[in-house]
Amino acid sequence: MSPSHFRPLLRPRTFTGANGAFSAFKQPSSFHAFRRTYTTKRTPLSTTKTVVKSTIAITTLALFGYYSTDSRAAIHRYLVVPALRVIAPDAEDAHAFGLKALRVLWDFGLHPRDRLGIREEDEKEPFLETYVWNKRIINPIYISAGLDKNAEAVDALFALGPSIIEVGCVTPEPQTGNPRPRVFRLVADKALINRYGFNSLGSDYVARKLRERVLRYAADNGMTEQDVLDNLPASLYPGKLLAVQIGKNKSVSEDDIEGVKEAYISGVKSLGLYADVLVVNVSSPNTPGLRKLQSGNTLTELLSAVVAEAKKLEKKEKPRVIVKISPDESSKQQIEDITSAIKRSGVDGVVVANTTLRRPDTLVSPPHLVHEAGGLSGPELFDTMRDLVREYRRRLPRDKEIWASGGVSTGQDALDVLKEGAGVVGVYTAMIYGGVGTIGRMKEEIRDIVRTTIAKKTGDK
Ligand SMILES: Cc1cc2nc3c(=O)[nH]c(=O)nc-3n(C[C@H](O)[C@H](O)[C@H](O)COP(=O)(O)O)c2cc1C
Repeated sequence: MSPSHFRPLLRPRTFTGANGAFSAFKQPSSFHAFRRTYTTKRTPLSTTKTVVKSTIAITTLALFGYYSTDSRAAIHRYLVVPALRVIAPDAEDAHAFGLKALRVLWDFGLHPRDRLGIREEDEKEPFLETYVWNKRIINPIYISAGLDKNAEAVDALFALGPSIIEVGCVTPEPQTGNPRPRVFRLVADKALINRYGFNSLGSDYVARKLRERVLRYAADNGMTEQDVLDNLPASLYPGKLLAVQIGKNKSVSEDDIEGVKEAYISGVKSLGLYADVLVVNVSSPNTPGLRKLQSGNTLTELLSAVVAEAKKLEKKEKPRVIVKISPDESSKQQIEDITSAIKRSGVDGVVVANTTLRRPDTLVSPPHLVHEAGGLSGPELFDTMRDLVREYRRRLPRDKEIWASGGVSTGQDALDVLKEGAGVVGVYTAMIYGGVGTIGRMKEEIRDIVRTTIAKKTGDK
């Protein structure tokens, strides 16, 4: 339409209708009259005021956006975490809501993030980087299994600053797990008890989610899917790794060793292409009989089968295989059996450890919570886990990596287990109580401790 089409509408007309203001809206000339009567006349001063107000509003919004997308902003720890507890009294609801929010915010680019991004760490903070299997990773902190069981928010979680995310546990077939409620907060102890029982959307679903990431990356970068699989870490980020944890369905009896092997092998087949590391879970306390798989020959047989299957995957660098063990199998004989299975099967390492069925006397939460069935996680696990890491490090050759998981909540905790010989350190429960900035804060603490130690040493000379 050319401007001339509008000309008749702009032509002044005399309006004589009886409908007052309503009619005035319909008639352009009366509309101008109406505006003249009811709107303030724009002066240069009022225009300036509007501009200033808008600028202040936009700047405030932008600053708030910048502030709230910083994972370490106090708002996340001191407002979001307590608010979530009130809004969602059931810990599982709160978790589901939190994970979904992270994913949606990621989609809009408004997700919280650790502002010490990869580049800054590379250039300015080299003392955070470490090596697993001689591969450089940007820092030693990872997110333990269970936080993102179905690979729903992998990228949003990477943005919080860990070097590794362990997705899962994934079972071959979808299963709902135990009846709810099945996660309990022991707030006074900053601990959790969970008896999820491997609720999983199944390996097909998770494989699809992970493959979608690969395909998106390939399309965005003009690569083929196989190029991405062969030339990039499965995390799709330099210096970061993606671990996928595999388990078995409850319906497969632990006494049927062939059935058990088949279940784990099917996990390798569907998920192995999308993993830098496959974690074999034989230590959840919530799947009846699962922990029996940790005994001597059974464990060797199972792990050997998984390692053999992982070697058959069609990608240049095959995923490493590690096994996650329970902290409750801690007698000398049990540790001996497990280390021997690790050595004989050819797995690349061990995650020490899962949640515990024990209930230390030091817990201060109300007894009805403390005695809920399930695995306990949080700070009460720390000492046991650190002692086990020391024990496994003593018994295992250096090429077997140890991933430490259990009650780590500060940078000092992380350094303590790294000193005992762990390669990387996992967190889960600390994030539930500390929010999205937990990993960033831990890394900052590590840096500060390392810096102070270096400064002292150089000062002493
Ligand atoms: C709610 C919840 C779910 C978990 N799910 C899994 C899981 O699926 N597989 C697994 O190996 N560990 C699972 N874990 C154990 C954690 O990965 C971790 O090993 C354990 O909680 C100890 O670490 P933390 O004290 O830092 O939480 C779960 C823990 C919690 C609290």
